[in-house]
Amino acid sequence: MAPPKISKNFINGEWVEAVSGEAFENINPAQHQDLIGLFPRSSGEDVERAVTAARDAYRAWRLTPAPRRGEILYRAGRMLIERKEMIARDMAREMGKALEEARADVQEAIDMAFYMAGEGRRQFGQTTPSELPDKFCMTVRSPVGVCGLITPWNFPMAIPAWKLMPALICGNTVVLKPAEDTPLSAYNLVKVLEDAGIPRGVVNYVAGFGPEAGAPLVKHPLTRVISFTGSSEVGREVAQVCAGSFKHLCLEMGGKNVILVMEDADLELAVEGAVWGAFGTTGQRCTAASRLVIHKAVYRQFSEIFVERAKALRIGDPLDPRVQMGPLINQTQLETVDRYIAIGKNEGAKLLCGGHRLTGGAYDQGWFYAPTVFGDCSPQMRIAQEEIFGPVVALIPATDLDQAIEIGNNVVYGLSSSIYTADVNKAFRAMREMETGIFYVNASTIGAEIHLPFGGMKQTGNGHREAAVAALDVYSEWKTIYVDYSGKLQRAQIDQA
Ligand code: NAI
Ligand code: MG
Repeated sequence: MAPPKISKNFINGEWVEAVSGEAFENINPAQHQDLIGLFPRSSGEDVERAVTAARDAYRAWRLTPAPRRGEILYRAGRMLIERKEMIARDMAREMGKALEEARADVQEAIDMAFYMAGEGRRQFGQTTPSELPDKFCMTVRSPVGVCGLITPWNFPMAIPAWKLMPALICGNTVVLKPAEDTPLSAYNLVKVLEDAGIPRGVVNYVAGFGPEAGAPLVKHPLTRVISFTGSSEVGREVAQVCAGSFKHLCLEMGGKNVILVMEDADLELAVEGAVWGAFGTTGQRCTAASRLVIHKAVYRQFSEIFVERAKALRIGDPLDPRVQMGPLINQTQLETVDRYIAIGKNEGAKLLCGGHRLTGGAYDQGWFYAPTVFGDCSPQMRIAQEEIFGPVVALIPATDLDQAIEIGNNVVYGLSSSIYTADVNKAFRAMREMETGIFYVNASTIGAEIHLPFGGMKQTGNGHREAAVAALDVYSEWKTIYVDYSGKLQRAQIDQA
């Protein structure tokens, strides 16, 4: 066990304690007695300093040529590669995802750093003809200003990177408030940016709790962009605060993602995808496959194999390379899952496996939960409607593709969905009909790649997308420029050339 780390905030290029001098504990969800470190418990005063630093740094950073900004991101990407194993181990220890998945989380940050570094030489605008002679028209991206980034614990480095890298390449400065459960992974990312030579004040990091450190960042009159990933409940609050001052707001919230398994599917492949989608990251992904809608012709066969596989998962310390599923993130999450198990039973869903906390031996030291499968669920049950964010999946039988699609769409969320079928016609129909921002054919609901837009329809978000070029739209504004070189007054729509 590594000794606890006493960490600080990063404000205006310096590592500083919280103004209050207070700190909070970051503990290992797989081993409660393992104290990972103490992190500053920040408040409005720390946020004030960080936002002011970001505002001051903005003047020079926005004028730094974008390819130069990109060079810093390239360097950061290379340093992340060098430190990948250390960072992944820190992450598995503080968050509880299997080591292999923690490495993938760091890899996303690496990919995002390189991708956005490349955008330093692109950020293409348009040039287009004018309706008038001797007149030139073009669009350019302009940065927006100080960005407040609020991130969750389930992708402790990937999500901060998804927000930081595009914000920086566009010429904005940022204040990052990471989740209180995973401040170390965010620290590791910020440290890399510091070592890569990010100028003082361009990236600021303020650790702490949501209402104490997150809320002042959202409220601050100088933050012009807020990008938030987390619960719908907090997202709604954030949106209300931003509405008053017309801040740019990008929200990524919950999901109740679905895999449709058709009668002609390769069942072996579908089971494999469903297990990965439902129990990967202990079900704590916004894209987790928490509903499986299965054609009744294969329902029994599918559920038997699926339950067998769920029971066979190796659960334990995420740092053990044989472990496939780690613990839940914290006590609150464990209680949420427990609550939904009771709800499912009360609603009359059939508990096929799991449904309880794992205990005994090393399990007593962490928030471990048995992979849980509910069978014969009806689409209206709360366990089939609400985001649980744990290793719990609802199996729902369907009579045909149309019904499967209807069930699939009949939730408030719209993040990710998928279909397993050998029939290209069915695949294309589902592709068109599913109201989700992400759709997969013959693959699970998880597995986004960073150069494609990421985000959801309906109540998952507010119409924005992260990652890819789409992310630039959150962190820049289009400026439309007309250059009249005719030397005379030319009136659009009035003067005919
Ligand atoms: P949360 O929404 O409370 O936390 C997300 C981030 O927002 C954290 O950094 C937190 O400190 C911050 N925050 C909390 N209250 C705030 C406020 N009033 N103003 C500004 N920032 C604030 O999520 P939590 O409690 O960790 O998880 C609860 C549920 O949220 C989960 O069970 C899951 O359903 C959902 N969730 C969804 C995620 C996703 O990827 N879409 C990620 C994490 C949680
Ligand atoms: Mg923790």
